[in-house]
Amino acid sequence: MDKAEGASRLANSGSLGDYYNASQLRADTWTRLKSVAVRLANAEPRGAAPDPLRQEAARAIDLLTPIESYWAFPGHDACSQLRRLLDKGEFIDFGCAVERIVRALMSNSYRRRSVPIGLQGDADDEEEALEAKDGHLHARPYFEVLIVDSMSSHYEHQLRLGLRDMRRPEDPFVYETVVVPSFEDALIGVLFNHNVQAVVVRYGFPLRSRHKLEILQRHLSRIGDCDLGEIPPDEYGIALSKLIRKLRPELDVYLVTDQSVEEVAGRVGDSCRRVFYNQEDYMELHLNILRGVNRRYESPFFTALKAYSKQPTGVFHAMPISRGKSISKSHWIRDMGDFYGMNIFLAETSATSGGLDSLLEPQGPIKKAQELAARAFGARQTFFATNGTSTCNKIVVQALARPGDIVLVDRDCHKSHHYGLVLSGAEVVYLDSYPLPDYSMYGAVPLKEIKRRLIQLKRAGKLDRVKMLLLTNCTFDGIVYNVERVMEECLAIKPDLVFLWDEAWFAFARFAPTYRQRTAMHCAEMLRERYRSAAYRERYAAYRAETEDLDPEDDATWLARSLMPDPDRVRVRVYATQSTHKTLTALRQGSMIHIHDQDYKAKVEEPFHEAYMTHTSTSPNYQILASLDVGRRQVELEGFELVQKQVEMAMVLRERVTTHPLLSKYFKMLSVGDLVPEEYRQSGIQSYYDEDHGWTDIWEAWAHDEFTLDATRLTLSVGRTGLDGDTFKTDVLMDKYGIQINKTSRNTVLFMTNIGTTRSSTAYLIEVLVRIAEELDERFEDASPPERRIQERRVRTLTEDLPPLPDFSRFHDAFRRDPTGDTPEGDLRAAYFLSYDDAACEYLGLLDGGLDAALDAGRDVVSTSFIIPYPPGFPILVPGQVVSREIVDFMRALDVREIHGYRPELGLRVFTEAALGAEPLAVGLRTEKSAAE
Ligand SMILES: Cc1ncc(COP(=O)(O)O)c(C=O)c1O
Repeated sequence: MDKAEGASRLANSGSLGDYYNASQLRADTWTRLKSVAVRLANAEPRGAAPDPLRQEAARAIDLLTPIESYWAFPGHDACSQLRRLLDKGEFIDFGCAVERIVRALMSNSYRRRSVPIGLQGDADDEEEALEAKDGHLHARPYFEVLIVDSMSSHYEHQLRLGLRDMRRPEDPFVYETVVVPSFEDALIGVLFNHNVQAVVVRYGFPLRSRHKLEILQRHLSRIGDCDLGEIPPDEYGIALSKLIRKLRPELDVYLVTDQSVEEVAGRVGDSCRRVFYNQEDYMELHLNILRGVNRRYESPFFTALKAYSKQPTGVFHAMPISRGKSISKSHWIRDMGDFYGMNIFLAETSATSGGLDSLLEPQGPIKKAQELAARAFGARQTFFATNGTSTCNKIVVQALARPGDIVLVDRDCHKSHHYGLVLSGAEVVYLDSYPLPDYSMYGAVPLKEIKRRLIQLKRAGKLDRVKMLLLTNCTFDGIVYNVERVMEECLAIKPDLVFLWDEAWFAFARFAPTYRQRTAMHCAEMLRERYRSAAYRERYAAYRAETEDLDPEDDATWLARSLMPDPDRVRVRVYATQSTHKTLTALRQGSMIHIHDQDYKAKVEEPFHEAYMTHTSTSPNYQILASLDVGRRQVELEGFELVQKQVEMAMVLRERVTTHPLLSKYFKMLSVGDLVPEEYRQSGIQSYYDEDHGWTDIWEAWAHDEFTLDATRLTLSVGRTGLDGDTFKTDVLMDKYGIQINKTSRNTVLFMTNIGTTRSSTAYLIEVLVRIAEELDERFEDASPPERRIQERRVRTLTEDLPPLPDFSRFHDAFRRDPTGDTPEGDLRAAYFLSYDDAACEYLGLLDGGLDAALDAGRDVVSTSFIIPYPPGFPILVPGQVVSREIVDFMRALDVREIHGYRPELGLRVFTEAALGAEPLAVGLRTEKSAAE
């Protein structure tokens, strides 16, 4: 949607519900006001503008006035000033002022210098031109400080000037202040104004906001279960500080109190950076504000690397590229230097001293950078990795699981987990995700399935061997677990269960309040606090009383009800791995491991260190590490804004594809209702946008539903084009229009917005989809009757005749320690290494009937390897798994170009019957023995 279109839509519909958020409405209303102001200024005869135009301008200002009261620029004073000019009929001045504001907002020039609102002479324009040339290169970063106080406009003005007077040339940043008069306004302010970096909470302010604008009030719904009306007025300051910490933990909050400062300081916990006693010392406040922002701005490793690269050094070790010498002296590869610039080579080093540090034994800036990352992502410990989350997963699995331990894993997890489990030797229980057969995709693992397996293992007396639950959150397709509920209920069955949440796609989630509540680190912190509280003990006592008489053997009852862990036994042990490079600013392969494990120091630190050593290069790439450090700085300062925009872009895309008549003929943007079955959507929310109701507030769904959908992952069903997902991706999007996407299924393609997505790139994608739809229309019109029939058949194959998705079959008894038991764990590692023995393996043809004949004869056909078709990209067979009819049918029906582990010319590699005839697990032992020989 372009701006003019958005503005006219608002003018026509007049419905705020059409807007996903207030920022969009703000931008579009200013653009609309500008176009009205131009027409007013040009009206002839001069000053005789028609009433409808004046009224339209007045309506826009009325809409902007409450919105601007949360921003320092242009602020609500500017709206009053515009209103006065409009009322006096000074349309030329009015037009200039509006033009100036809109230009400053669009170009962000208000962040670099003060922009006067009134009519200015040429000087101002010259200054702007100069600045456009090189000003922003030298500008100091800008932010806004939200002050919460009910004060007169005179005092507000004094306060603003007072703080402005404190500015010093050596200050690293500049800021402006914005004053809001109530508790609710403060909450709206921190959620709406992304320029806010610090909040000064004073005292004596009321609870409720005067503004009843629905789109602003919508922000208040984000505060969750808390009933503001129950807070006593003299507690407003502390309560507000705590709520701000919950909503935007990265902000610095300063509390000014007229009560005993020592007593208040003892109660605010970590929600405030400092408590002041009713003081008027502007300099003290100013310095604290700057220091607070500087804590987030510092990036110790990046700074150290920059400093190091400037030092003259002689290189006498094995790194010829260091300092760019092997490039600048070359006759043949100098274009590499031209392309990358010299700094990247100047920073190419493996020095661990001279201000730098060692990733393997960090004591200096890498250690500090990891600590800052832990703070930013809410972890107790954070470790950087330079080989992606593939490595992080292997490190965590190896550190926590030993041979013989049992690990529960979602079967469609990333392959690094399967390989990690092979290395660790843990026995695996695969969990099936709910299938989405219409789109040839899997969803995620229902909580009931996880509980069922844990209870089964408990009944079999194997709970002490169960070590870890490993789940992908969010999944590639954007299905998001209710992390808190999963952990809570699992801990009720196994109080010390370790959780590994693969958040490869979810690093950004920490920086949006809605998303944050479903991240591993947030939930770990929350559960930790919960289990410490007296209120939880009380609830737990009631739960015990309620469940005392239930039959402990009646699985159905336990599966149907919510379970609560015993606060005296529970241990919160949570790990998250994130591909920082996938969703935030970091060079490729830059990833992090975040830990909140109560037993880390006592039980894990040593094995974790060993596992980290196993997988970490002794030559880690410093550029990647520095980018992780800077990426952390960015999200602590502008993550909230960027993620908000990323979600907004996704919402615009959803809305456009859903409402465009031509696009909806060939495409369907899958909604949460399509991807999450009804039984897992307790909120009943079907779609985040629909034509009849506009936008749905997603908070409700995210707070309670078993699964939600990450709106920034957009699955487009393309079956009606007659092209399968892979062809659509490669031949159409990539080759024809240069649009890169990552994942496809048989009849879908997945688009993602990210923190770099712009309104123009979204518009381009819509334009391309429209062009594709027009071409398809044309092709269909020109087609001969036989061609039409072919096309219709293709569409039918892609939308109706879809192969059923196979579940995990079972491990063959030869790879089960307990083949007579009814629990399904299997020894992946034994099967994996047995496949190294050629004599134990043979090939059965998938297409020549060899495989079918074996199955018909009743033979247990067992895969030797991982068979991973792309798409869907996860193993449909793992080593040691029995090949079922359903799997064979699925493999045959797959028309994808890549199936890793499968060689069509040879067939499927399986174990010979003789190899499987050995005693259970003797197989594994034999392999270990022969390896030793
Ligand atoms: C769920 C999941 N985990 C882990 C990975 C591996 O991450 P990386 O590419 O950072 O090694 C991927 C990669 O796509 C993934 O989808």
